Amino acid sequence: MTTTTVATTTTNRAVGTSHTRVEGREKVTGTARYAGDIPYAELAHGWLVLSTVARGRVRAVRTGPVLEMPGVLAVLHHGNAPHVDGSYTTILGSKPYPTAVVFQDDRVPHMGWPVALVVAETSEQAREAAEALQVDYVDYDAEPHEVEFDPRTSDDYVGGARDLDGETSKGDLEAELGASAVVVDEEYTTPEEHHNPMEPHAAMARWEGGRLEVVDSNQGSMWIAGELAKLFSLDPAAVRVRSEHIGGAFGCKGVRTHQVAAVMAATVLQRPVRVVLTRRQMFSIVGYRSPTAQRIRLGADADGRLRALEHRSLSVTSTVHEFVEGASAPARVMYDADAHYTVNQVMQRDVPTPTFMRAPGEAPGSFALEAAFDELAERAGIDPIALRARNDPKTGPVSGMPFSTRKLMACFEEGARRFGWADRDPRPGQRRDGRWLLGTGTAAASFPSGSAPSTAAVTAEPDGTFTVRITASDVGTGARTALTLVAADVLDVPSDRVRVRIGDSDFGQAFISGGSMGTRSWSWAVETAARDLREQLALGGVVPPEGITARSDTADAIGALAARERHTFGAQFAEVAVDVGTGEVRVRRMLGIFAAGRIVNPLTARNQLVGGMAWGISMALHEEAARDPAFGGLIGADFAGYHIAAHADIPNIEADWVDDTDPDDPVGIKGVGEVGIVGAAAAVANAVWHATGVRHRNLPIRPDRVLTAGTGAPRA
Ligand code: MOS
Repeated sequence: MTTTTVATTTTNRAVGTSHTRVEGREKVTGTARYAGDIPYAELAHGWLVLSTVARGRVRAVRTGPVLEMPGVLAVLHHGNAPHVDGSYTTILGSKPYPTAVVFQDDRVPHMGWPVALVVAETSEQAREAAEALQVDYVDYDAEPHEVEFDPRTSDDYVGGARDLDGETSKGDLEAELGASAVVVDEEYTTPEEHHNPMEPHAAMARWEGGRLEVVDSNQGSMWIAGELAKLFSLDPAAVRVRSEHIGGAFGCKGVRTHQVAAVMAATVLQRPVRVVLTRRQMFSIVGYRSPTAQRIRLGADADGRLRALEHRSLSVTSTVHEFVEGASAPARVMYDADAHYTVNQVMQRDVPTPTFMRAPGEAPGSFALEAAFDELAERAGIDPIALRARNDPKTGPVSGMPFSTRKLMACFEEGARRFGWADRDPRPGQRRDGRWLLGTGTAAASFPSGSAPSTAAVTAEPDGTFTVRITASDVGTGARTALTLVAADVLDVPSDRVRVRIGDSDFGQAFISGGSMGTRSWSWAVETAARDLREQLALGGVVPPEGITARSDTADAIGALAARERHTFGAQFAEVAVDVGTGEVRVRRMLGIFAAGRIVNPLTARNQLVGGMAWGISMALHEEAARDPAFGGLIGADFAGYHIAAHADIPNIEADWVDDTDPDDPVGIKGVGEVGIVGAAAAVANAVWHATGVRHRNLPIRPDRVLTAGTGAPRA
């Protein structure tokens, strides 16, 4: 099968032009059904019971009274639940997420750990009984929990989960710092943050004709099916997972308690069972972004050339899983130095397990690195963009590999022009608008651009339409629409003659929606199959009733891709107004210019970038989960207590891109899901400094922090 041909004779009518989502009408009219919406005959409802202690053991689950309650069918817990095997390695190379391996023993590793599932005829009955269920715990007083993330403790270790090379080192850091004309040595912190997509996690499980069928909200139906097969020791062919519409994911929609508990209950009761998480449950079951404490040391010559770059990051993980927030990742790609050192460390606490959250590593890491760069620019008396130009490497600072393309400075040039950067007075605290101090800031963005093997099938139907089948996952990004456009162009037909079916593990192996790799990986498979089909059709003949199908597998083609540093890049610009009387910070405008390869659908790509930037504002100013050391849980685990940016917080954000063609790459798509949040918080923080003259190195930049810090700038 041909998998590496680039050239086609198509006119690329669809790719590169804006298209609304193909399922947009269904979504806005409410006919699109999510995993929790679909009715089934005989459906029973499961409601999870979470631990009310942060560390200990379950002594007893008092099921008797609850089983007498109306409609209650079963109570599953560690004493009676089916066995699952959690000893496998996931496609991400780690152990399964801990809340997937539930009801297996009496240990409670953190507040909000799932200890039981109550199943009843209705959701209301299940909830009533779950709230009445009494669970007794032991060891709680004997072994006090420890949940505080305290960077000054020394029991951290170098992580190996996400970053196989948890530490990188070259040159003599201390010597280069000592020889530097300008030095920055500062600590930056980011708090615990939660994804909490709008649609809660939900899964229905049932046995149909000897097969396990699960309807779910996830980032990859093959991924979920594969893990469920392993957990329950089933033939993979006996498991089918579907996920048609997904109301957001951001990294937390993998295998979690709800699918596993639903399968257990469906197996025990031999009827369909659905488990839907509540908003509050999501705060402890599905994962979140660890808090980070980061130390950056930069040393430069007087002209800004870096002699030393050190980025140390410390994050937290649970006692039952090693997840490392790889916040030093941007330093490994963005800037080189004679002495270069990065490390990601992690400490264990009695807290829920963190996980991937939009731009894992890069989002908090770019805040520290790009804020430190702004400080270096200030101390060296160099424009922040000029400083980045002076330190723009030709090869990967750690990998040594050439960049496929690195259009970072093109992004800064275009962004500076459109934002009006040239008119900026570099001195802080110079601009005022009534009670507001005004400032502008900038920061760089980058995110890896990878692709992973996927398979696809494209069928020519007798009526002249085409059907694409691929186990892609559209978490709300517009991936289904992007694949429609990609297929239409290769087939050389209008996009309304192509239907794309996704989210069904029966369609075969494909990569997940993650790592900004989904649309890139799937498009490669779809293009390959569509090109093959088109060649078959060119031979002429009649399409039979069952259609003509071409299939692809991109494993070999991806393996043949030249070794390069492949990344998206971007330049973020923000203007803020700071009221030092109230401590309020308002972002007035924001501009992001990105280099992100071939843009398939400008409408949804811009939507992804703007969404990431909006989240960056939220990260800079609002988001912070407060964990109480005494009881070990979150204060306000809901959308009232966990503050996210609302419409009024978000100004007119513009996102655009520069041309970024990689001549070696047959697909050319780089992915836009995550780069938009990278550097966004730093741009806001740098603008707050420019407005006030005070550096804020701890996120979020809350009103009380601004008030306490006041203004370091001389008053006009
Ligand atoms: Mo995304 S955090 O790569 O699922």
